[in-house]
Amino acid sequence: MFRERLDKKFIRYAKTDVRTIALPEAEFSGVMIKAAEYCVKKQIANIVLIGDEQKIKNTFLDSNFDGIKFISPKDYENKEEMAKKLYEIRKSKGLSLKEAKELILNPIYFATMLLEQGIVDGVVGGAATTTADMLRPALQIIKTEEGIKTVSSSFIMLGKRRLKIGDKGVFLLGDCAINGNPTSEQLADIAVATARTAQKLAKLDVRMAMLSYSTHGSAQGEMVKKVVDATKLVREKAPEILVEGELQADSALMPKVARVKVKNNLWKGNANVLIFPDLNSGNIGYKLMKLAGKLKAIGPIVQGLTKPVNDLSRGASLKEVILTIAITSLQASNLSEEERLLRKKEEKLAKKLEKKAKKQKETFEEEILQPKQEISQNEPVQEELFKAKKEKNNNELTTNDKEHNAEIETKGQES
Ligand SMILES: CC(C)(COP(=O)(O)OP(=O)(O)OC[C@H]1O[C@@H](n2cnc3c(N)ncnc32)[C@H](O)[C@@H]1OP(=O)(O)O)[C@@H](O)C(=O)NCCC(=O)NCCS
Repeated sequence: MFRERLDKKFIRYAKTDVRTIALPEAEFSGVMIKAAEYCVKKQIANIVLIGDEQKIKNTFLDSNFDGIKFISPKDYENKEEMAKKLYEIRKSKGLSLKEAKELILNPIYFATMLLEQGIVDGVVGGAATTTADMLRPALQIIKTEEGIKTVSSSFIMLGKRRLKIGDKGVFLLGDCAINGNPTSEQLADIAVATARTAQKLAKLDVRMAMLSYSTHGSAQGEMVKKVVDATKLVREKAPEILVEGELQADSALMPKVARVKVKNNLWKGNANVLIFPDLNSGNIGYKLMKLAGKLKAIGPIVQGLTKPVNDLSRGASLKEVILTIAITSLQASNLSEEERLLRKKEEKLAKKLEKKAKKQKETFEEEILQPKQEISQNEPVQEELFKAKKEKNNNELTTNDKEHNAEIETKGQES
């Protein structure tokens, strides 16, 4: 599974079930346009740029927009219906129809409504927008997954294969980007959603640790109790998840320490999903791991929504945007692993056959057609040569004959 790095795998996997992703920052973010170009060219995703087509084309003159779709909120033919739908969703929260009509012109709200209505399969933004502005429409409009009320995020961490953390250096961290100080219920939601992300995207058999500064009662306090309660809730909500808590980081990750500190633990200190108790520890923790451990962090991957919306960090690189589009496509895909493998096999076979056919055609042209062509090209020349030779022979014959005749004539006269 991990022979190839996961990030490359995500891009390859996204190609097996091409989804449609809306990019709401198209009018003002060059990196989003470059990513759109790349994703369409490499068939990673179909792209819908939100904004005025002419304005976008005039702004990004060097870009190639072949195969890219445009939808402008202000010119959208079903704008009125969409505003009404937004009003229906948010009227209980005090939104008026007039406000809904104004809100729909905002590209992020518009893209999120396209997602809600199934016109696109995912939304990616945040390269030039704050997390709150990027995610608020999704939190307000898109429903949460079954059994989950809190939207959260996770990072997939990629270390060297020999790193003795996770599964050959692959593990997940949640939540490091969205929920400030979650309650035990919210923490349980974060844990369940992170386990789902680990299964769906990283294909891990989850061994989850609920992190704290205490291991199985070694310390007391409100902060510890929150993690203990959350662990119980995870077991109730999702009994299929192998979860252990509360655990200190070393008890969660080091078998040697776990053997001493943890009695009857479900695994021996080799967790592959770590849940932080709050955003301070989560955000600090993932950054320290990334820097000190020279790990790659993929994310934040927004989780817990029924339809995917992902937030980039401002100033995200082209590579990061492309990867996030691929991940969003994978989140939107309902293809089972078997179906995906089958498609990959079919694709591989089709490519192989195409290659074989091309080679056969080339060989045919080289070996069969070309010599014929050569002959036919040479034919007129040879014909000319033949004619010339014949003519020369004729001439020679005629001369000979003349001489012969003359000789006979002379001999006749002599006799
Ligand atoms: C997620 C976040 C962006 C939401 O911001 P916000 O829009 O100001 O939040 P609000 O409290 O006004 O909530 C808006 C709506 O979203 C809902 N909501 C907020 N957070 C939610 C969550 N985690 N899950 C589900 N719904 C949530 C609220 O219930 C509210 O819904 P309602 O209007 O239907 O009642 C905010 O929690 C945040 O800024 N988090 C920190 C992000 C950050 O700075 N990270 C730094 C590291 S990258």
